[in-house]
Amino acid sequence: MRALQERKDAGLRIAMISLYDAPSAMMCCEAGADVLLVGDSLGNVVLGFEGTVPVNLEDMRRHTGAVVRGVRASSRSDVPVVADMPFASYHGNAGDIVSAGATLMREGAQALKLEGSGEHTLKAVELLLEVGAPIVGHLGFTPQSSGRFKHITQGRDAGSAQAMLEASLRLEDAGATAIVLEAVDAGAAATITGRLSIPTIGIGAGAECDGQVLVWNDLTGLTLQPPPFAKPFANARQVLAQAAGDYVSAVHSRAFPEPRQS
Ligand code: KIV
Repeated sequence: MRALQERKDAGLRIAMISLYDAPSAMMCCEAGADVLLVGDSLGNVVLGFEGTVPVNLEDMRRHTGAVVRGVRASSRSDVPVVADMPFASYHGNAGDIVSAGATLMREGAQALKLEGSGEHTLKAVELLLEVGAPIVGHLGFTPQSSGRFKHITQGRDAGSAQAMLEASLRLEDAGATAIVLEAVDAGAAATITGRLSIPTIGIGAGAECDGQVLVWNDLTGLTLQPPPFAKPFANARQVLAQAAGDYVSAVHSRAFPEPRQS
């Protein structure tokens, strides 16, 4: 995780990718990603839920382990992996919070990401830091509590931009290593980035953040309806759908298998 701070200090951008499995992790390491996130977007992106709330600790444990194994199998086995603490896993008693964090760290995560900056979250940050788990904050639009938001973009008026700046300073003071800013007004994100010593990593938060994060399925073009701030860098959906169609036709027409696959 120290590499992220070094990149900010050197004025170099940080490329983070949120993903869920070993082969994708291996590809992203080989492609030069600076840090991987096992996001609880797992829920809507991979598991078919509407959001992140149904994702539980066992889901996160399983997929964190998969991503870590992909990183270790790559030629860049030191790429850090951040794991999302799932919904409600950091609002219980101290023992449960530490045990949830430890479950993900034991799978090989190098840091844990928590949403928000409320009293409970700050308490959890303190507890997890005390046992030695680096923390990444997450402000702006926070999907685990998406029902609270009237608009997706946060920090558009002076009052809410100031509140978010104060929340980010609180997280930095509490010892966070970096902060993800999701769907944040670009001006507000630029101000926060300028005021913090630790890196900000934006998603739909403008070009002035120290880094960017995109979800693997969005950046590869697998997602049917990606959020407006996601840019597909490939059309994987079309390529994979074509491959599936070609395979089905080849089976139906008896063109597959050929003798060498038999
Ligand atoms: O769950 C996730 O993938 C995330 C990123 C969008 C930041 O939290």
